[in-house]
Formats: sequence, structure tokens, C-alpha cells
Amino acid sequence: MKHTKVKDLLNGTKTLHEVKAKGWVRTFRNNQFIALNDGSTINNIQCVVDFENTPDETLKRITTGAAVSVTGTLVESQGAGQTVEIQVTKLEILGDSDPEKYPMQPKKHSLEFLRENAHLRIRTNAFGAIMRVRSTLSFAVHQYFQEKGFFYVNTPIITGSDAEGAGEMFRVTALPFDGTPRTEDGQVNFKEDFFGKETNLTVSGQLEGETYAMALGQIYTFGPTFRAENSNTSRHLAEFWMIEPEVAFNNLADNMDLAEDFIKYVIKYTVDKCGDDLKFLEQRLLDEEKSKPQAERSEMSLLEKLSFVMDNNFKRVSYTEAIDILKSSKPNKNKKFNYIIDEWGADLQSEHERYLVEKHFKCPVILFDYPAKIKAFYMRLNEDGKTVRAMDILFPGIGEIVGGSQREERLDVLLQKIADLGIDEKELWWYLDTRRFGTAIHSGFGLGFERLVLFVTGMSNIRDVIPFPRTPQNAEF
Ligand code: 4AD
Ligand code: MG
Repeated sequence: MKHTKVKDLLNGTKTLHEVKAKGWVRTFRNNQFIALNDGSTINNIQCVVDFENTPDETLKRITTGAAVSVTGTLVESQGAGQTVEIQVTKLEILGDSDPEKYPMQPKKHSLEFLRENAHLRIRTNAFGAIMRVRSTLSFAVHQYFQEKGFFYVNTPIITGSDAEGAGEMFRVTALPFDGTPRTEDGQVNFKEDFFGKETNLTVSGQLEGETYAMALGQIYTFGPTFRAENSNTSRHLAEFWMIEPEVAFNNLADNMDLAEDFIKYVIKYTVDKCGDDLKFLEQRLLDEEKSKPQAERSEMSLLEKLSFVMDNNFKRVSYTEAIDILKSSKPNKNKKFNYIIDEWGADLQSEHERYLVEKHFKCPVILFDYPAKIKAFYMRLNEDGKTVRAMDILFPGIGEIVGGSQREERLDVLLQKIADLGIDEKELWWYLDTRRFGTAIHSGFGLGFERLVLFVTGMSNIRDVIPFPRTPQNAEF
């Protein structure tokens, strides 16, 4: 007989049937009740073992973490909190788990401990829920764009283009068997290296994505991106996944509409599909908040926050207006600011972004028209000559979740910008071709996937929403 997923057993209505389930033991109580989880759902199925007719040797091997196969009759459960259970007629231990050594004991472990055990933390309720939510969100991303007629493009991971200016990059080099080609002073000789030039792991697929938008109209990428920023924050990873749509003929307002609609769609899709997991994560947060003083507790529960985002318009505010708000909020109201903005042109720090979102507007905010000086070279210069059509979306509890812009479509303006920044025009010949041949306005944005997963799961550290976090502290996997 084939085994059935626990999720299907719990949702099925046909009792008094013979069924088989396979999974991992979460707990084993009174020598009789196995809580079995197979990862298909956060819920365990209770398996009642006929202990009188089961050898002691076998009972001893039913320990937390062991893999088992149970066959028996699905019956309505007498116990509280579960609809059905399996009355076991045959039990097979598939894989033992030494209780003295198994790290995932049925108790609350710290998130730090679980991070060190990223290969096993997925067997806890919280991480099972987070990773199922993550998977559903990924699917929703594809569904949204595919339904809207966008094409999925795979942009290069290894790239010679380094013009994004998004931070430090990881250098890629080929190591031949007989040693790396070296120059006399011991440096890697890139001329003789596999790639014949300096190559890096991509920081963004945008520039390549733009060339596709200028042919296919509407495209999106969804892939890993890399930034060698050694920033030890709860919002940064060295390897993270980014979703980057790019649309020909869209202006900045269209770009904002797309981003807002997209975010609302994927959240709604996930709330609809992941009810049990989100309810668990919501309760987890409520329990965590109990230890905080009343004033620091969140006013909304996780699901209320998600509904709020789905049901309300994001507030659209120009950089200039935001600076005015920040200036007038000092000096007393925001004593917490370490860095006070009193000059137009300064980049916002995350404390400012969070002030605007969490204290001032109390809703997601789309900031636009930033000073050209603090944004990337490819953004469309406004008529004022000093701001660009950039947009950042800021989320409560997260800060920046999206960065995007309308792109500079005018070849002469773009060339001037590149020259001013000292970027070698030759490096970007292929990118500039989009402006040479059939240029048109176009816009796009990048959404940091893990920041979205953080928001939807209510977790507070980005390392807890990606299976194997890449940060300088988590390099063992
Ligand atoms: O704002 P960023 O740097 O924008 C770009 O890379 C553009 N090329 C995107 C585009 O227009 N197509 O990054 C986009 C988003 C940020 O808003 C943030 O959510 C996320 O990527 N992000 C990170 N997420 C995790 N760890 C990091 N180190 C991140 N750096 C950026
Ligand atoms: Mg950004």
C-alpha cells in the first residue's frame, strides 16, 4: 500500500479505512501516542500504538526524530485538538534517532541555536511553517507575472558587468588544477584566467533584464543575487533572492502601481493558501510579545498586519516631502535618531525610513524622486536636473523592501552620466545599444524576496527566512 500525506489524511473525511503514513516522530507520549509529522502540514497526526502487542524493543526506538512508517485504521479521534487519528496495526522504524544525540528535542530552542543547525531546524514547527510560506510566496510570484503575460528571464549569475554600484561584489575566478594563474606580484592574473577578465557574481539582473524588456515587452527575473556586504544586520544577506520585473513603456507611476498590485497579490495568495502556518506564526509572535512591556507590543497581530497591507493604499511621498517631515520631527519627537537629517540630498538611514513608516504614516510608503547623487546611474533624470525617477517601497518592521525606477532612455543623458561617474562606456556597450536602437521609456524594480518572507512570516531576522543563510557568520553549510 502507498502511504498518504498527513495533510490529506487530516483533511480527508473517509474514516474506517486502512491507511499508511510515513514521517518523523515529534513526540511519543505514554508509550502509546505518536505525534507524527511528515512536513506536508504543520499539523501532526496522532498514531495510537497498540503497546500491549508491540515488542518493548520497538517501543524504545520510537523516539523524537526517528523516521517511521505506520499502517492502521483512520478513525475519528476522541482526543481534543484533532479530528482523526490512526489506530496502528503495523509499525516500522525506518530510521532511528538517538535521543541522547538528536539536537531537535521537543522544547523551545533559541533561534541562534537553530541557525547553527540549519539542516535540522526545518523539522521544527516554526521553520516548517516559514519554509512552506516561502515556497507558496515563490509560486505566487510566478503566478502573478505569468497571469499578466510577463516572461520569465534567467539573467547571468556570473557576470562581467559591475556597473550597478550596489555594493561590494564577490569575485569569480577559475582555479586550474595546477594553481591559479598569477602575476609576478602574486595577484590573480585575470587575463589568463578562465574568463579573461574580471568577473563577479551578479548583484542584480536588471541591466540584462532591461534588454529583454526592450524586446519582449514585459519580463521578470527571480533568482539569486550576491552582495559581499559585511553588514551584520537582521536585514542583509550575502546571498539573497531578488524579483526584478521590467516593463517597456511604463513610467514611474505605472511602476508604482505594478509594485503595489504585485505585493498585495502575493500576500493575499499566501494568506489564502497558508492559513494553518500563518496562524501558528501569529501565535508564536503573540507568545513572544507577552514578555515585552505593553508599550512595545505590536498593535496588530500578524494576520491583521497582512490584511492592513492588502486593504490599504500605499502612501506615495516624494523624497523632498519626506525630508521636510523628518526635519520637523526633530529634535524631541525622535530622540532615537542617531543621525539627524537637516540637509536635502542626504541618503536616508534605516532609522529614518522606519520613522516615516512606523511612526508618521503608519502604513507602507513609496518614496520617489530621490536626489540623483544618491541613486544609480541608470535612473531617469527629472526636468529639475537634480532628482531622478527612483522609488523605494518601505514596509513597517522591514524598511526598504523594493528599490526601482524609471530608466534613463535618452542616450546622450545616459552617456553623460556614465562619463561623470567615470564608468567605462565600453563595458556597457550592449546596455547602451538598447538606447541606440529603438529606445523607449521603461521601468522596473527589484523586490528582496527574503524581506517579503520576513514581513509575511513576522520573523525578525532575515537569516531565519532563507534555508541556508549566507553571512560571514554562517559559512559552514
Ligand atoms: O535597491 P536595490 O539595490 O536595487 C537593485 O538592485 C535594482 N537593480 C533593482 C531594480 O530596479 N531592478 O535592491 C533591491 C532590493 C532591496 O530593496 C532589498 O529589498 C533587497 O533587494 N536587498 C537585499 N536583501 C537582502 N540582503 C541584502 N544584502 C540586500 N540588498 C538589497
Ligand atoms: Mg535600494
